[in-house]
Amino acid sequence: MLNFAVNRQTCNHCGHCAADCPARIIRLDEDGFPAIAADQEPACYRCQHCLAICPPGAISILGRQPEDSLPLARRFPEPLAMETLIKGRRAVRRYREENLPPELIAKLLEVAGHAPSGRNARQVRFTLVDDRTRLAGLRDELITLLRRRIEAGLPERLSFFAGLVKLWDEEGIDFLFRGAPHLLITSAPGEVATPIPDCLIALSYFELYAQSQGLGTVWDGLATWAISDLAPEIRPRLGIPADHVIGYAMAFGRPAVKYARTVQHGQPLVHVVR
Ligand SMILES: Cc1cc2nc3c(=O)[nH]c(=O)nc-3n(C[C@H](O)[C@H](O)[C@H](O)COP(=O)(O)O)c2cc1C
Repeated sequence: MLNFAVNRQTCNHCGHCAADCPARIIRLDEDGFPAIAADQEPACYRCQHCLAICPPGAISILGRQPEDSLPLARRFPEPLAMETLIKGRRAVRRYREENLPPELIAKLLEVAGHAPSGRNARQVRFTLVDDRTRLAGLRDELITLLRRRIEAGLPERLSFFAGLVKLWDEEGIDFLFRGAPHLLITSAPGEVATPIPDCLIALSYFELYAQSQGLGTVWDGLATWAISDLAPEIRPRLGIPADHVIGYAMAFGRPAVKYARTVQHGQPLVHVVR
C-alpha cells in the first residue's frame, strides 16, 4: 500500500510527478490530479521522486509528508566546498580513544541510508560496532581465528596476514581496525540486483558525510578480507545474515590527526573513445 495522496488545494496539475516517475505509473485523472491505479502499485520503485519533484509540495507517499523533507532550492554545497571535501578526505589511521555519541552515529547512518541502490532496493545492512571495548574484543577474537587460519595454511594471495599478525604480537600495531573505536560492515542479500555496488556506494556516502562532520574514516580492506575470506565463522557472531554478501568494512571515529591541506593527485586516467 503506497498511501499515494494528493493535496487537491495545492496541486497545480503541472504533471512533473507523472513525467518523472521511473515506473511510469502516475497518470493524471480527468480533473488533472495525479493518481496511481491500485493494480499499478506493485510496480512503484518507492523512490519518492513524485514527492521530491512536486513544486507546491502537494504529494505524499509511503506515509512521508513533503514538509518533513529538507528544502533544496539553493541549498546544495558550493562546488568548491564539495571539491574541498572530496580532495581533503583522508584515510585516517590515528584515532582518539573515545566512543562517538550514539546520536551522532545514528545521524551518520541515517544520512548514508540515502545513498542510491540498484532498483532502489535499499537492502544494504550496516553492521555496526558502536563501542570501542567491544571492537577491541572483536579484534582479539578475529586475531585468534586468524592464528588458526595461519596454522592451517593461508591462501597465497593473503599470505601477508602472517606478517600482520606478527606485527600485532610484537609491536601491538592494530592492522585490523587502525585503532578506531567503531566499525561498520555493509552487506546485502545476494539476490538483490546490485548488492556489492550498493554496499560500496553506501560506505562512500557515509565516509564523505562523516568527514564533513570532522570525523575520521578508513576503508578497511584488511578487516574485510579477515571477515569475508579468512575467518567467515565470525559472521554469525557479528549477526551478518547467511544469505548476505559482504560489501566492505570501514573503521571510523574521532580523529587524533588533523590535515592542513588537500593532496594533489593530478589528472586521473582517462580514455576518450573516438
Ligand atoms: C578499497 C580500499 C581498501 C583499503 N583498505 C585499507 C586497509 O585495510 N587498511 C588501511 O590502513 N587503509 C586501507 N585503505 C586506505 C588506502 O590505503 C588509502 O585510501 C590510500 O592510501 C590513499 O590515502 P587517502 O585515502 O588518504 O587519500 C583502503 C582503501 C580502499 C579504497
